[in-house]
Amino acid sequence: MIECKKLVKRYGKTLALDGLDLNVGDGEVHGFVGPNGAGKTTAIRILATLLRPTSGEAFVDGVSVTGDPQGVRRLIGYMPDFFGVYDDLKAWEYLDFYAGCMGIGAKERRRRIDEVLDLTALSDKREAYVDSLSRGMKQRLCLAHLMMHDPKLLILDEPASGMDPRARSEMREILGDISAMGKTVLISSHILPELAQMCTSISILEKGKLTFSGSVQALENKMNASQLVIRFACEPSEAQARAAIEKLKEELDMVAVRDGLTCWRIDTQENVMQDGEALRLLMAVGLPVCDFHRERATLEDVFMEVTKG
Ligand SMILES: Nc1ncnc2c1ncn2[C@@H]1O[C@H](COP(=O)(O)OP(=O)(O)OP(=O)(O)O)[C@@H](O)[C@H]1O
Ligand SMILES: [Mg+2]
Repeated sequence: MIECKKLVKRYGKTLALDGLDLNVGDGEVHGFVGPNGAGKTTAIRILATLLRPTSGEAFVDGVSVTGDPQGVRRLIGYMPDFFGVYDDLKAWEYLDFYAGCMGIGAKERRRRIDEVLDLTALSDKREAYVDSLSRGMKQRLCLAHLMMHDPKLLILDEPASGMDPRARSEMREILGDISAMGKTVLISSHILPELAQMCTSISILEKGKLTFSGSVQALENKMNASQLVIRFACEPSEAQARAAIEKLKEELDMVAVRDGLTCWRIDTQENVMQDGEALRLLMAVGLPVCDFHRERATLEDVFMEVTKG
């Protein structure tokens, strides 16, 4: 649905996109993650036909964003990072106004307004003034507006920023419904854990280039690297410690690394049987083990790892 080929965007001396290659398949909910200034909004504005790339190409459903911007606009619904809504309109009037701009007929508009208000859980706010809606509701109303012309691709720039956990979870549900309707969604954020829960695939952007792109599963596999952490109630005697470290190496091929006087760490793939053997071995040597657990990298750790440049 989205194909970016070697996209470059310069703002004077600033290189915002540095040969970005991005592919998003049909029906994906794709998270576009990167720290502040990584180039997310720039890439999104190019896809939304609001900005021309310095070089490179981008296509939405095979239509070129520079060759046929009008064609692309029919295919997409774009929610900018900061959007204004007309305050003196009621929710349904707001939707009606935009649908009119898009050339949707009056009868069809009434039907679509009911559908999109229902989709975004705003039916009971139909007659409310836009002004009176909370920030999260305004964001949902904007989503409703994007759905009016039944686009194939939704492009949302940081829709979850400023939302409380409940609003985020509602947003997740709505995106789930939208995805079940067969739409493709590109959604940006600088918070990976927030996106991982609502996406099927993820790209991580750093200084205008991707440092990761793949399924959420592939991202989680990156985190499978975990450590065995062993703590002792008191410092073990040197003789015991040496004996245990040697046995761990000989019998289980585990290399224990000391982390302070009362903690050891072992880098190994998770293996319940082998972990159990290691614990038995430590107890047999008589070490005062008081804590024995696995520490996994969090999504936040992975994000820090792939954006550390
Ligand atoms: N209109 C502009 N003129 C000059 N430089 C710009 C302009 N827009 C963006 N930039 C620069 O391009 C780079 C990428 O900015 P962009 O807004 O695309 O990042 P972002 O990933 O969306 O960041 P954020 O998470 O803060 O929204 C930044 O260095 C920014 O300062
Ligand atoms: Mg941005």
